Amino acid sequence: MNKKRKSSRENFLKGTTVLGASLGMSRIGAPMHAKLKNPNNIINVGVIGTGSRGNFLMDEIRKLGNVVITDMCDVYEPHLEHAWERNGKKGRKHSDYRRLLEQKEIDAVFVVTPLKYHVPQSLDALSAGKHVYCEKTLAYSVKEANEMVRKVNYTGLKVQVGYARWTNLVENIKNLIKKGAIGKVHHIFTHYHRNNTWVRPIKDKRWFRRLNWRLYWEYCGGQMTELLSHQIAEINYVLDSHAVSVVGTGTVDFYKGYNRETWDNVDVIFEYPEHIKVNSTSNFMNAKMGVSLEYLGTNGTIAPVPKQIGMVGILDTSKDKINIYWETNTKHLESLGIKGADIKLGQSLNVSESAVRIPGKVIEVSGEQKDLVAQFFDCIRNDKEPAIGVEEGRTASIQALMANKAIRLGRKVTWDEMLTEG
Ligand SMILES: NC(=O)c1ccc[n+]([C@@H]2O[C@H](COP(=O)([O-])OP(=O)(O)OC[C@H]3O[C@@H](n4cnc5c(N)ncnc54)[C@H](O)[C@@H]3O)[C@@H](O)[C@H]2O)c1
Repeated sequence: MNKKRKSSRENFLKGTTVLGASLGMSRIGAPMHAKLKNPNNIINVGVIGTGSRGNFLMDEIRKLGNVVITDMCDVYEPHLEHAWERNGKKGRKHSDYRRLLEQKEIDAVFVVTPLKYHVPQSLDALSAGKHVYCEKTLAYSVKEANEMVRKVNYTGLKVQVGYARWTNLVENIKNLIKKGAIGKVHHIFTHYHRNNTWVRPIKDKRWFRRLNWRLYWEYCGGQMTELLSHQIAEINYVLDSHAVSVVGTGTVDFYKGYNRETWDNVDVIFEYPEHIKVNSTSNFMNAKMGVSLEYLGTNGTIAPVPKQIGMVGILDTSKDKINIYWETNTKHLESLGIKGADIKLGQSLNVSESAVRIPGKVIEVSGEQKDLVAQFFDCIRNDKEPAIGVEEGRTASIQALMANKAIRLGRKVTWDEMLTEG
């Protein structure tokens, strides 16, 4: 077991003392038994769910060498047909994912279906000896999240969770905060604001609900699992932690058609250890604030430069600038010993400059989005750990579900209370 795996496993067990025993994790670290099925180092891939994100991921896969999409599955024929044509009319087509999993030469499976299906399909894929790239949010219940961790630890297969947080920018923010660049962090504000309804015009009424799955609780957890979950995963990574409790409110305010169930207006406050508050909001009626995440500390604020396209907030993970706003008692980054190679230090306050006269500065970092798909294949080939693994996916899932529970019950819900569900 490598070091990273060991320490994250220890963290998992620390937070789940009672749970750990019931998970039967005695074979954690069992050797990976899925050798590549194909000679010449080629990885064969099956994709389950060939909708919008599925096509995006297939485009990414096709850019890589030594990876072949051999199988595709979707219950909605037009999506399957479209994806197959886009794949050069190559590969087998399936309407039942279990038939895809029966294909022995497949090494890895991409699960790109609505949240409801993520864990059942991923568990079956792992049982079939396939590595899994599962889109966020990983799990739709605490029980499912725990089952995934147990299964991955048992099989030793690789699971990558498709969060958009794997960028140099996030690494740099983590580094800056850890080294004390903005003092003690006490608040984080995150927004995921848009101006759209999530409603897809589907002519065939039989398919309306299934393809507009984001509107219904049966399929997903609404804004918490579809949008704010990205930011939860990022904050948890930056703070090396997760929320201990949450309160919140959520309502369907403007988009009431189609018997919509999931809220279009959500506000929650997570509390992290040491009383750090995370205010998280998502609404579909005003995109002005877009997608953002600001870290407030006693000496300053880190705010990635937000980007908005039209009136639809876009999560832009390739931003290459961080705004730092100084409080009057700030120190120069140099005096804090922050000399990260990625950060151009001339951009922090110079020794002659005072935070009162220069309250904010843009620090340029190399904010390139790292390639999660390529990294997943590298993990399979070289027995490395996925950048965003199953334990991180489990924690972010439980936290998103915890927020929805707090909103539904109209009271504070704690992490410990959530663990009793699993
Ligand atoms: N990481 C990101 O930034 C990001 C962005 C968008 C979507 N996603 C995630 O990707 C997943 C898919 O989202 P999308 O926008 O592509 O949705 P989508 O509706 O466009 O595609 C989902 C597809 O799954 C198919 N499907 C549904 N049930 C199925 C089943 N049981 N077996 C096989 N196919 C089935 C649907 O017919 C549809 O074609 C979701 O989990 C979503 O949260 C992640």
